[in-house]
Amino acid sequence: MSTTALKLARTTLLLLVLAGFYLVVTQQHKHREDIRLTTVTLTPGCAEKLRRYGLVSSDRYRSPYVLQRTGSTAPLRGYSDEDVRAIQRGCNIIDDTQGKQAKDTGNERWNATRFIRGTHTSCDHCHQGIGDKQDGHGNRMKGSLSLGASWVMADMYDRFTGMLLPFELRQMQCFINSSNGYKPNIADDVLRDITAYSRFLSAALALKIGNHYDEQGIDEIPASDTPKQGDDYVRGEFVYKQKCQVCHGRQAFGLEANGQLVAPALAGPNAWNTQSRNYFNYVSTILPGFICRNMPLGAENTLSNQECRDIAFYIGNLPRPAGDREGPVVALQHQALMTFMPPLMRLTESTRKSGVSAALPPERNQ
Ligand code: HEC
Ligand code: HEC
Repeated sequence: MSTTALKLARTTLLLLVLAGFYLVVTQQHKHREDIRLTTVTLTPGCAEKLRRYGLVSSDRYRSPYVLQRTGSTAPLRGYSDEDVRAIQRGCNIIDDTQGKQAKDTGNERWNATRFIRGTHTSCDHCHQGIGDKQDGHGNRMKGSLSLGASWVMADMYDRFTGMLLPFELRQMQCFINSSNGYKPNIADDVLRDITAYSRFLSAALALKIGNHYDEQGIDEIPASDTPKQGDDYVRGEFVYKQKCQVCHGRQAFGLEANGQLVAPALAGPNAWNTQSRNYFNYVSTILPGFICRNMPLGAENTLSNQECRDIAFYIGNLPRPAGDREGPVVALQHQALMTFMPPLMRLTESTRKSGVSAALPPERNQ
């Protein structure tokens, strides 16, 4: 073959490969565009919330919530059809991160499981009330991890990383650590939609940019706020068994019944990992704060600071996945713990009950 023919063949091959890439990319873009254009079927929780906040596409937006509470509202810039769909998808993702209620996981998709390893996690488990937790009178609640209040605080200095973190990066941290998952691309529609929803919440609640509100973050409990000023594993285990075990399971690995989640994992493969701020040994003030304000479900605010810290200490010592930055060896070690610990615990419990081993310490009750 002459050199010209060889060159021609090579160039043709290159062009064909590039054309192939171009076709794939166009397909992907078309799929994304289709998703953006598809009418969103809301989860029941989101249907109720967005109806209450009067989300419709129009030139002007007035919040019924603000009108009802203050007697007047200033008209704000309204939302286009596309904005409304983004907000609706964002709400669905927070309410049902695993997309369990989605009928069609193709275009109707709000399924974010491709970014999450476990099968329990939903943002709404921690950012309760679909990121906007309120009491029976519509008052927002202190330390409830509100997403609207977080949006107006975004781009602020973050005390753990020492960085100015935009809202998208704050979400990413939760995808990676609190949800033990993967980092979505910064331009991914999942992040865009969650941001649209959170920003809408701040408009519906009339929260002002740059202000700090009580409902943002957690109402943290440092050891200095407890009488004993120390945390106790045994006390923690005892209270856990009394108040949490019915829902979260014996090893805190979560409970499922008939394919339905009774309560999410607090430890084990479906829980947050060791780089989440929920992990007691990383940040000791956040999990106790969450527990005191939000648990036991249906009897919130009934535990003492001491009890919340003791339980959090106990939970923090149960096996859970390693964080992304801890490397393969630590990851393997944690995996082994999660696999071998539960059967071991069951074994010791049954030997204890059958009295085979009198050498085992009796169950302590205080
Ligand atoms: C297991 C509990 C848990 C889950 C699940 C969870 N988060 Fe979080 N989230 C937290 C905690 C704890 C913080 C940190 C609060 C702090 O630093 O004060 C946080 C912080 C955030 C922040 C920043 C809030 C602020 O005010 O600075 C955003 C945004 C966020 N999460 C979004 C999400 C999204 C989106 C999901 C679902 C993919 C999610 N979170 C799932 C517990 C959770
Ligand atoms: C009546 C059942 C019930 C009891 C009792 C209960 N929880 Fe929960 N818990 C839940 C449910 C359900 C959720 C998911 C959040 C939601 O749906 O509001 C949850 C969420 C959590 C979360 C959020 C983290 C995650 O994995 O998503 C923590 C932490 C937690 N519970 C701790 C506790 C502790 C500690 C106790 C005992 C003091 C307790 N819970 C008692 C039902 C319960």
